[in-house]
Order: sequence, then C-alpha cells, then structure tokens
Amino acid sequence: MSSNQKITPNRKHVLDLDDFSKSEIDNLLHSATVMKEVLNRDIKKVPSLRGKVILTLFLEASTRTRVSFEEAGKLLSADVINISGSGSSAEKGESLLNTALTLQAMRADLIIIRHPLSGAPYFVARHLDHTSVVNAGDGRHAHPTQGLLDLMTIYEKIGSLNDKKVLIVGDVLHSRVARSNIHGLQAAGAEIIISGPPTLVPLWLQSNDKDSPITYQPNLDVAIQGTDVVMALRLQTERQASGMLPSIREYTRRWQVTENRMVSANNSAIIMHPGPLNEGIEISSSLAHSEVAAINEQVTNGVALRMALLYQLLTFNSESTEELAI
Ligand code: CP
Repeated sequence: MSSNQKITPNRKHVLDLDDFSKSEIDNLLHSATVMKEVLNRDIKKVPSLRGKVILTLFLEASTRTRVSFEEAGKLLSADVINISGSGSSAEKGESLLNTALTLQAMRADLIIIRHPLSGAPYFVARHLDHTSVVNAGDGRHAHPTQGLLDLMTIYEKIGSLNDKKVLIVGDVLHSRVARSNIHGLQAAGAEIIISGPPTLVPLWLQSNDKDSPITYQPNLDVAIQGTDVVMALRLQTERQASGMLPSIREYTRRWQVTENRMVSANNSAIIMHPGPLNEGIEISSSLAHSEVAAINEQVTNGVALRMALLYQLLTFNSESTEELAI
C-alpha cells in the first residue's frame, strides 16, 4: 500500500472500534507504521495536513491522549487548538452541543472529544454536518484510539494474534480501554481471557458461554498461564461505588501483575498498561519498568497511530492523488 492510499473513504467519525472491519484496522495500522518512520526522524514535521484545523475538547483529565493528538496534528502541520472545561464557556453552563456547534461554525475540520459521560461523542457527531468527531474516551464506554495503538504495539512485539492468548486483568467494569480492546482483539482473532474481582467485571463477560471467544477466570494465577500478552488495567477508584473491593491490600494480593506471576505466561509474553499507572496496585513497579514491559512503546505508537488516523479522516473526501508528503 502506498502511504496515501485511502483506507476508509467514507468514514467521517471514529467513535469506537465496533464498526471497524479487520481490513480497515490492518490498513490503518500499516499507515501508522509509515507515520512512525516519520516520528523517528530527526526533523519530524511534514506538510500533509497544512490548512486543516483540529480542536481537542477535553472535559476530563488526560496526559497521553491529549498530548499525542496535539503532537500528531502539529507534526502533520495542522493547526491544533486545545480547549478544556476550565476557562471555556462550559464553565458558564454552555451545553456540550452548543459548544460543538460553535466550534463547527469556526470551521473546525475535526474535534477530538474526551468526556466523562458515555455516549457524549456520539451525541455530538449526530449533530455536526461538516466536522469530524474522534472519541478520545467517553465515560466507561470506549477509547478507540487506545484500542488501535494497543493492537499496533502487540503486532510489533509478537506478530499475528491468530491463536494467541491475551489476558485483560483488573477493573474491567469501569474500563473504556478494555471495551475497545475487546472489539479490536476479536477482529484480530485473539483468544481473550478476563481476570479480576467479580465486582469489577461486567456480568456479560462472566457468562463463560461455550460459544464465546472470551473466558472469565477470576484466579489470576490460573488465568495468566500460557498467555502471550497481559494487559493490566488501572484501578479506577474515581468511578467506583464504595464496597466494590474488600480492600486495596486484598486486591493487590490477588490481582496485581508481578514479575513472579509473569513467569507463568509464555516466554516471550509482554506486559501492557494504558496508563496512568497505579504502581504497586495493579502492576508492580519492577514489572512496569522491566524488559517485558511495552508501556513506553504504547505511548510512542499512540502518536504514530493518531497521525495516521488524523491523516485518513481529514483527507477522506479529497480528490487528490498526490503522494502523502512525508
Ligand atoms: N491511556 C490514556 O487514555 O491515558 P490519558 O488519560 O493520560 O490520556
């Protein structure tokens, strides 16, 4: 594929991975590897999105996602403007819809939204005629670009996911990362194992239906055996009702991923974490900083993947057949 091949000619928004085909994901990841080569250059800036306006509207905290979208847009020469709840008219009570319509009226080409409420980016996307919407995380629902960058990292580290076992462990109930990853991993053909306390795993994942490609195993020492990828999730205490855990000490004893536990995984297994990390709770510090940790690669791939996504979305209706100027 040439670097300017259109992978998603009719896609306007990215809201979750449930409407991505395997070939769309594969092509996007291929494009991200081209972008990674750009990112690794000494001089990283290319003119591909010159004249495009990208807004980031983050109404919930973020480091990786917000900064990597901003970096991705700027490296492609788009104009990137960042808006947060604090200091915007959202503080005066302006609704999300009116905020989005205002930004569209300013001729924004694309708005990247993080919002504490599940579904907020879908609601905005339904009301915008000209402006694309990318979901950068909505409540506990979805985080599609995290799912894509995680897939990119897995492919880089272990290759094809056919017949590979991926363990997702921890606070799955509150994790938009887990939900989007499940869509992406299923499309990639992985076997998925879930582990964590029953109070922090949705009931639909605990059914252990014999036709389901997803297995729930609450005992982490059993679940981790023979796995190729272990994804530890952040314990999201800010989203939890009280009484969901006996204690942090008990949680740590039973579900913390450690170097000792990784011994039961396959020899070449990797540990991943979307960040931010609660070191010493869901993952031990020594494992998080060990050679089997792919956490920094996830962050780097986040920039490359978001470069590819922005490029694809903002040139989706372009008639130009010029090579991507990289
Ligand atoms: N993984 C992730 O979404 O991190 P941030 O909250 O820092 O963006």
